[in-house]
Amino acid sequence: MTNRIPDPARFPARFTWGVATSSYQIEGAPREDGKGPSIWDTFCRTPGKVRGGDTGDVACDHYHRLDSDLDMIRDLGVNAYRFSISWPRILPHGRGAVNQAGLDFYQRLVDGLLTRGITPWATLYHWDLPQTLEDEGGWTVRGTAEAFGTYSAVVAAALGDRVRHFITLNEPWCSAYLGYGIGIHAPGRHDLRASFAATHHLLVGHGRAMQAIRGQAPGAQAGITLNLHHTYPATDTPADRAAAYRMDGFQNRWYLDPVYGRGYPQDMVDLLGDLSPQSQGLVLPGDTELMGQPTDFLGVNMYSRAVGQDAPGEGFLHARQIRPEGSAYTGFDWEVAPDSLTDLLVRLQEDYAPDAIYITENGSTYPDVADEDGNVNDLERTQYLTEHLAATQEALARGAKVAGYFAWSLMDNFEWAEGYDKRFGIVHVDFDTQVRTPKLSGRTYRDFLARAGQAVGA
Ligand code: FCB
Repeated sequence: MTNRIPDPARFPARFTWGVATSSYQIEGAPREDGKGPSIWDTFCRTPGKVRGGDTGDVACDHYHRLDSDLDMIRDLGVNAYRFSISWPRILPHGRGAVNQAGLDFYQRLVDGLLTRGITPWATLYHWDLPQTLEDEGGWTVRGTAEAFGTYSAVVAAALGDRVRHFITLNEPWCSAYLGYGIGIHAPGRHDLRASFAATHHLLVGHGRAMQAIRGQAPGAQAGITLNLHHTYPATDTPADRAAAYRMDGFQNRWYLDPVYGRGYPQDMVDLLGDLSPQSQGLVLPGDTELMGQPTDFLGVNMYSRAVGQDAPGEGFLHARQIRPEGSAYTGFDWEVAPDSLTDLLVRLQEDYAPDAIYITENGSTYPDVADEDGNVNDLERTQYLTEHLAATQEALARGAKVAGYFAWSLMDNFEWAEGYDKRFGIVHVDFDTQVRTPKLSGRTYRDFLARAGQAVGA
């Protein structure tokens, strides 16, 4: 076990310290200023899909509270902010005429960050696909990947003089599997073949977006964010080790290998059989190169680890994720496994040699209790945060080129299918009054950053 107390002096002087959010989870204003509907607007209106019937219609009302939210970000002392751009605000129907009012919102956001000395990190796609494109097949059809490239070019042309860090996709595994495979996220389809078609078009879309950014914003840093779990076998038997390797293939290698120009891992293509994009005839000549456009960094979202057991006949992986006893778990029942972050970062460096790795999300949900003044003494989240910072420090010491860390999330927000029930913020939000109050975790992060000498203006 690594030392669990991070030392700010042990991080590189130019380390990126940030907080992260996404458009649908915080903005609200679903039809304002010409915004078109997204698949999450539709999904939230489908009975039974989101806990309590919650929607992102208001969320953190960030669209109307931009300036005070930017002040709040500045006051945390971070030097970077990761946000996402809502595609249907820019192109209400996914393609065609640009909605200038939508672009203006992000211009104000970016300018407001720069004025405050905070570096903007823009994610182009964090799950709010324009509904019009879904009506044409969404990510199961190649046209969506092409439309994503066009949209990316619009954004890079408009913002690229001030945004120098772009993330193409957030967690394509979730878009494909949760959205099209098992239906717990928008658009709510239950079709494994469709989900593997979606993986391919998401990765093609990533390639198109990389080309667009290179063309419109030369010199900007660009990459993709994947949700990765380091995967361990439940026992040291060959069967469990093989099962863990299949789980690693599904969760990690299926995305990492194409992004690093290797095409899909052959063991997984063989395992998937009829489900694979290859057997569906979707992989075209040139796609390996397209998906493998050189990136400047790898974005890693890490919350937990996976422990795999051989389970013949179970699902298409013939493997089962087990819940190790004796571990601590967050409110999502995700195992707290900071050492796995170290293992993951070191493994990524060894196997893929990225020029830089940014942890673009890391965080935890717990059933917070706020006092009358909105104060939350979130000891568990604070411990989670410090342990994962220490794990990051350990990975640096072991040679991983980690260049930044973004806490998920700036503030409590709309947690997808869990609605407002699951809180991940380091700042508490009272959803009745929209009052924001830093939690103990937020204050701890701020103090750590002040000691790191990375505080804005330091
Ligand atoms: C990630 C998502 C993010 C948030 C966290 C808890 O998968 O990227 O939007 O929901 O999980």
